[in-house]
Parts: sequence; C-alpha cells; structure tokens
Amino acid sequence: MNICFLMYPWEEIDPENDTSLALIHECVKRGHGVATCSPANLTIRNSVTNAFCNVIGRMAKVSSNLKTFYKQAQLREEMLPLAGFDVIFMRANPPLDPLMLNFLDSVKDDVFIMNSLQGLREANNKLYTAAFGDSHSNIIPVTHVSKNKNYLVRQIKESPADKMILKPLNGFGGSGVILIEKSAMNNIKSLLDFYVTNSDGTSNYVILQEYIEGADQGDVRILLLNGEPIGAMKRVPGSDDHRSNVSAGGSVAKHSMTKQEKALCKQIGPKLVKDGLYFVGIDVIGGKLVEVNVMSPGGITYMNKVYKTKIQAKVIDFVESKVLDKLEAFNRRSRLRNEVENA
Ligand SMILES: Nc1ncnc2c1ncn2[C@@H]1O[C@H](COP(=O)(O)OP(=O)(O)O)[C@@H](O)[C@H]1O
Ligand SMILES: [Mg+2]
Repeated sequence: MNICFLMYPWEEIDPENDTSLALIHECVKRGHGVATCSPANLTIRNSVTNAFCNVIGRMAKVSSNLKTFYKQAQLREEMLPLAGFDVIFMRANPPLDPLMLNFLDSVKDDVFIMNSLQGLREANNKLYTAAFGDSHSNIIPVTHVSKNKNYLVRQIKESPADKMILKPLNGFGGSGVILIEKSAMNNIKSLLDFYVTNSDGTSNYVILQEYIEGADQGDVRILLLNGEPIGAMKRVPGSDDHRSNVSAGGSVAKHSMTKQEKALCKQIGPKLVKDGLYFVGIDVIGGKLVEVNVMSPGGITYMNKVYKTKIQAKVIDFVESKVLDKLEAFNRRSRLRNEVENA
C-alpha cells in the first residue's frame, strides 16, 4: 500500500525519539510506498487535491536502526494526488490548521485517514475533554473553561484547594500550563489579563482546573489504538518544573497500568473509536484524564526503549487491516454491480 504522512518537515525529525519516524520506518520495512508532506505543501492542481511530497526511495536493505534509516533515506520531491494514496497518516503538530482539513475533505471518501477528519475537528484542543459531560468528575478533574475573568477569579477564591492549574485551550508540549496558588492571589488578575485578553482586542478561552495531587510524581502517557491501550509510560517532571512533558524537561520511566487507568481506557475507548480517533495518546494523573492528544501523539520510541517492544508494528497492522477492509468492500461492490449490469 501507499501511505502519505502529513507531518512536520523531514528536517525537523529527531531521529532518536520521533514516533512519526518509527511509524514511517515500519512501513518502509514492510515494503509499503511512503511519502511525507507538510500541511503547507497541500495544493489544488486542476481542481484535484495534490501535495508536493517527499517520496522515500525504495531501499535495497532497510537498516533496523532508526538513526541510520533516517540518514540513508533518499527523498525525491514529486507532486502527487492525495486520492491516489491508500492512507493519509496525520502527524502534523498542533495547533490544527482548519484549512488543512478542508483540503482533506475532498479525499476522505477515497483514502483511509487516521485520525478521521471528524475526530480531528472535534478533539484538536482541550475542550474535547473539558466538555465530556462528566459533571461528577469521575473521568476528568474539576474543570472550568471561560473568558470571563470575574467568573474565573471567583472559582479560584471558592476552590477548596490552594493550588489550581491554568492553561490555554490550544497549548501543547506543556506551554503555558501554570500552577497558581491562592496565597499569590495578587498576581491572578494580571495573569488572567495576559491569558485572556490580546492586544488586538480579541480574547482567548482559558482552562482552570483542579490541581491533581500527586502530579509532582509524574503523569502517565497511555497510547490507545482503536480504543485499546497498546503502551504506557510514566513521565516525571524535572526538579525545577511542575509539568511532566518531555519537551518541558520530564524524564520517562516504566509504568504498569493501574486498575483505575485500565477502567478509564474502557470508559473512553468506545467514544474515541466512534469519533474516528483510532490512534491517540492520553495524559492521566491520579487515574484522571487530563488530555487527549489526537494530532501527533508521541511516546512510541520511549516505550520501545523501556519495554524492548515495537509498538509501531501494532499500529501499522491496524492501518493495513483498515485498508484491506476498504478494498474488500470496494471489490464486493464491483462484483455486485457487474452482476446487475450483466443481468
Ligand atoms: N489538572 C492538573 N493537575 C496537575 N498537573 C497538571 C494538570 N493539568 C496539567 N498538568 C501538568 O502539566 C502537563 C501538561 O498539561 P496538558 O494538559 O497535558 O497540556 P499539554 O497539551 O501542554 O501537554 C501535564 O502533563 C501535567 O504534568
Ligand atoms: Mg499533555
């Protein structure tokens, strides 16, 4: 099959720890055709959706080492129609560009897109979890989302706990996630001005969330494929930061999923599949869901290292099975059409 990875530029790949590269490598090893393209390379050519792609040249021998594979891969630029691929694997970094999805709308019936466009539209920011309808906070921590600064100040004052988390709706990699404390109430109005009000008169929603006790010991990243967990790891914050993101200095360690974490996956798995969110990374603290990452979830290379596994193999098995299903449905329909045609 032929797979197009819609992702950040090839030069930005970190060959040591890049989940997209691990997935690409698995596809090339299996003999699939692979091309990458970045959202900025989407192009309509004569009314057909194309992209300037980097096609990875066939290799006589594919090194099993990711760094060597990255160095040896030969790329050639070609403009290709997206509907000619079997799969588009979304690996673009957040925040989501809605125009990119408009390009893909034109090919969504022809190509298996992971994750689905509907799912990406619904879940590309933190409102997806904040609006879970979980009014008793069984799944997510107590959460408020608002632009109303007076409302937010009131919630902080009325909160029984001293600590709370404030974060932007569209952030990623830990950026803008801050710990606020009632004891520093003097700063809070200024912080809210900064987070909510932009200099051009526009404004942003912010998330105010219960601080989950134990977060200083780390959070848990679980990868789910088709609604089922396929790997988990612990991320522990550095000594000078409260955030566990690896990009914010967190380190990774082994983690066996707790009963509560397994139950959480069972609770949310069916919704993820229904929304076409087949491959996601969730962040969990104290058994509570903090975030669902749907754009370009990472963690495979770290999990592979700590567990000596090859999680990418499961992901590509799944993609292959989806393509096969699509092909079988198409062949069946062709047979039936012929039967009617020839009657
Ligand atoms: N409610 C919370 N309680 C405690 N720590 C939190 C909470 N929300 C976020 N954090 C910390 O900040 C990190 C980043 O938050 P997250 O919501 O996952 O945003 P991002 O998209 O930037 O990764 C988390 O991994 C965790 O370490
Ligand atoms: Mg996160």
